[in-house]
Amino acid sequence: MTDGDRTVADTTAWWATGVTRIAPGEIGYRGYAVQDLIAESDFVSTIWLLTRGELPDATTRRLLDAVLVASADHGPQAPSIASARMAITCGVGVNSAVANGVNVLGDTHGGAGQQCVALLQRLVAAEREGRDIDELAIDAVADHRARGAFVPGFGHRFHPRDPRRDPILALVERAVAGGELEGAALRAGLALERALAARGRPIPMNIDGISAIVYAELGVEPELARGLFVLSRSVGILAHAWEEAGTGRRIKGPLPPPLLADYTGPQARPL
Ligand SMILES: CC(C)(COP(=O)(O)OP(=O)(O)OC[C@H]1O[C@@H](n2cnc3c(N)ncnc32)[C@H](O)[C@@H]1OP(=O)(O)O)[C@@H](O)C(=O)NCCC(=O)NCCS
Repeated sequence: MTDGDRTVADTTAWWATGVTRIAPGEIGYRGYAVQDLIAESDFVSTIWLLTRGELPDATTRRLLDAVLVASADHGPQAPSIASARMAITCGVGVNSAVANGVNVLGDTHGGAGQQCVALLQRLVAAEREGRDIDELAIDAVADHRARGAFVPGFGHRFHPRDPRRDPILALVERAVAGGELEGAALRAGLALERALAARGRPIPMNIDGISAIVYAELGVEPELARGLFVLSRSVGILAHAWEEAGTGRRIKGPLPPPLLADYTGPQARPL
């Protein structure tokens, strides 16, 4: 091997990838020709293929589709949507407006799903070591309370019962009953819900909680689960930014004029 060969090999290895193969006239996703995927597959399956390496089976595809649909939008009062709508009125392009929305999907707004997958994984691992799942859930709730923390994936500011919970839960339960999913994350999620309700008032799982059950059952890593949520919410962010762009409004701020934010600083004073 000459030094020149070695330099080329080092350079191509620098960007080595198992995701896509690109050559003149050739595009392959994880080994499948893009022409075949176009003809035979669909977008949800392609998301799974690219991020996880294999095409999903029918149950995985159905569940992933369900959580992606359910997370796509939650209206302009969600800060991610509001910030994208404000951004597009400032003269930036649609890419920047969408990035603006995605950028505020942080630990507090949009991060509960990732945190809940991690919590479910911990409970499932401890149950496998012989612990009782209800006792584990009671301990987890107590631990969060002691830290003054909310249990991620449960409760909702607007919805006494999140309308996205029941239909996705029904899909998971059917898949568990059919032996297509193990059911350990489902058991853990329901045990947390029981433990949270023990004080008398139900605190049902929300979209992040039920999505976390799906992702944990499917073996998706917590951080990738957040990435998939971001993909889904990007659809709503784009739709809202595009609608706002269509209004022709310029420089939309957080308050409709003539409202102004309260001033709490010192009284006017001479300089
Ligand atoms: C969304 C959230 C902020 C709503 O909280 P909230 O407005 O206080 O909800 P409620 O008024 O219905 O709460 C009623 C009671 O349940 C408690 N509670 C609500 N959600 C809880 C949770 N996830 N874990 C523990 N306790 C919770 C509240 O502390 C309150 O207790 P209190 O009566 O002793 O004060 C809260 O549920 C939360 O942070 N959940 C976890 C994060 C999450 O999943 N976010 C994604 C939402 S889609």
